Amino acid sequence: MRVLAIDTSADDTCSAVVEGRRVISHVEYSQISLHEQWGGIYPSVARRAHEERIEWVVKKALTKAKLQGFSDIDAVAVTTGPGLAIALEVGINFAKQICHGYKKPFISVNHMEGHLYSSYVQNQKGQPNREPKFPTLGLLISGGHSEIVLWKGPLEYQILGETVDDAAGEAFDKASRMLGFSYPGGPIIERLAENVKNIDKYNFPRPMAKSKTLDLSFSGLKTALLYKIKSMTPTELNSERPYLASSFQEALIKSVVKKLALAIDQTNIRDITVGGGVSVNSRLRLLLRKLCREKGCNIFFPSLKYLNFDNAAMIGVVGAIRAKNDIFVEDFSTVERRPRMTLAESSLKNMLL
Ligand code: KG4
Ligand code: ZN
Repeated sequence: MRVLAIDTSADDTCSAVVEGRRVISHVEYSQISLHEQWGGIYPSVARRAHEERIEWVVKKALTKAKLQGFSDIDAVAVTTGPGLAIALEVGINFAKQICHGYKKPFISVNHMEGHLYSSYVQNQKGQPNREPKFPTLGLLISGGHSEIVLWKGPLEYQILGETVDDAAGEAFDKASRMLGFSYPGGPIIERLAENVKNIDKYNFPRPMAKSKTLDLSFSGLKTALLYKIKSMTPTELNSERPYLASSFQEALIKSVVKKLALAIDQTNIRDITVGGGVSVNSRLRLLLRKLCREKGCNIFFPSLKYLNFDNAAMIGVVGAIRAKNDIFVEDFSTVERRPRMTLAESSLKNMLL
């Protein structure tokens, strides 16, 4: 089954061709330069850029896969949610046109499912050669979501905990803006914190540290950073930026690690899969690996460089699994964008195609 995948859920226009879990081609057109100046994604700018680029990106994915055209694919998988409503629509409409014009089956994919599967996407040689072992605990930390997921089996998910306010990536983005830097904030904060010796100088509050639920929260941390910045003179702020960035990163990461530890203890599950843009953070990876060594757990991160971020390869892989299970959308003309789509909705049991 050869699947053409499309994702326009945020600020990357992406397309890929996959066969099962193997990526045959992948193309991504990043919009970061268009959004940097706004400190976040500017929805109407994102939509226009997706509209201008989608055809080029999808056709490039086909040619890179050495395919002649849409007749050479078996199905189209597209992200229908969650994400930016007017951006999602561009990919969905393009997928509908292909499916209508070439009589191809339409597959609806949840973007967060893609992140969950991203550690299991393979290159053309079938590497990495690993499969998710069920049940697995999924830690999804992206720009729009932060959740701990009980991944019960192929296409079966239950959210055990999630952020009650900002997502981790969103908190990084806001912190970067407060410190006078641009978007995306995660890599900027990480770089600022890189050579800091006293990494937790400001000892910011660890959100939800005492609660026994698996929920996360980052808005209090963000406010603590804001008040600290406001209390400083411009000269102080200039010299303290790396310490502020590092202390912020430390507090955020430690609270994520603590919640994952609690999830491991509560569920007794020893296989962990991490996904989403924040999972590239090397301090986070280090502390998660340490935790898993201590607890005797296996931990998997997206292994191919480009898979950490938004991409269509992970959407294609989920699409291929859906296709294998015969899960297609029969009347795709009725498919609408679902900006707040949850993983529970995409779970095999409750599926709203
Ligand atoms: O998964 P992703 O590409 O998009 C969504 O699905 O939301 O995640 C983007 C997020 C941004 O908020 C960005 O600041 C964050 O991932 N991010 C990082 C790092 N690189 C990207 N956060 C922390 N450390 C990083 N190195
Ligand atoms: Zn994403």
